[in-house]
Amino acid sequence: MIPVHGTRIYPKGYEPQDEPDYDPGLRNQLLDHILSSASEADTDTDMFRVMARRRSTRRFSKRPVEAVKMDRIIAAADTAPTAGNYQGFEIFYVRDPKVKKGLVAACNGQKYVDAPAVLVFCKNPARVKFDFEQYVLTKFAIQDATLAAAYSQLAAQALGLSSIWIGMLDERAVMEVIGTDLVPSSILCIGYPEQSRYPKPRRNLKDLVHVV
Ligand SMILES: Cc1cc2nc3c(=O)[nH]c(=O)nc-3n(C[C@H](O)[C@H](O)[C@H](O)COP(=O)(O)O)c2cc1C
Repeated sequence: MIPVHGTRIYPKGYEPQDEPDYDPGLRNQLLDHILSSASEADTDTDMFRVMARRRSTRRFSKRPVEAVKMDRIIAAADTAPTAGNYQGFEIFYVRDPKVKKGLVAACNGQKYVDAPAVLVFCKNPARVKFDFEQYVLTKFAIQDATLAAAYSQLAAQALGLSSIWIGMLDERAVMEVIGTDLVPSSILCIGYPEQSRYPKPRRNLKDLVHVV
């Protein structure tokens, strides 16, 4: 039987333990506003073209990223699916040059972490209110944070920017540098590329997909 909470239907075992900390009957007006705000001339609205053209960048120009674009990149993260819609992640938008320098050291000396815009995606399993074992909540939180970062990465590409995903990081060192108890899962470094390059090749689709 499918459990019903009030008027809401949940898969078995996924019933929320707490009421959500937002009114599910209200649309998120700020989020909608940011996402639907007038497109810039260099915004690509073809999702598949955005995916096809994305290429990691480790050399950024000095050109700053416009605030309106950062708003949309962060809003994009907020549209990602999350386990139970508990949104088990948080974002640290690093603007302080000293903090960026600290992150370079915390990321194995990767100097491009000192990028024009830096977002640290952290897990927050305490937001995930399922009555499951802790390791499941942590697993959900890392998936939440990872998906959110991927949405931001694609949004950056759609806005004419480029990015590099940083997974090689010292979790404790990053936490100390940004001043949080939340464990980071990835860092997204964003900026205008010095030069745009073709996407990297991938394996043959037949080696990727297993039909069972
Ligand atoms: C989980 C993960 C961890 C990564 N960690 C790093 C990293 O620490 N430093 C870095 O320069 N690139 C890192 N990358 C970027 C990859 O090297 C890059 O995505 C890959 O070479 C494919 O290139 P593309 O993004 O242009 O398709 C990471 C990517 C992923 C998905």
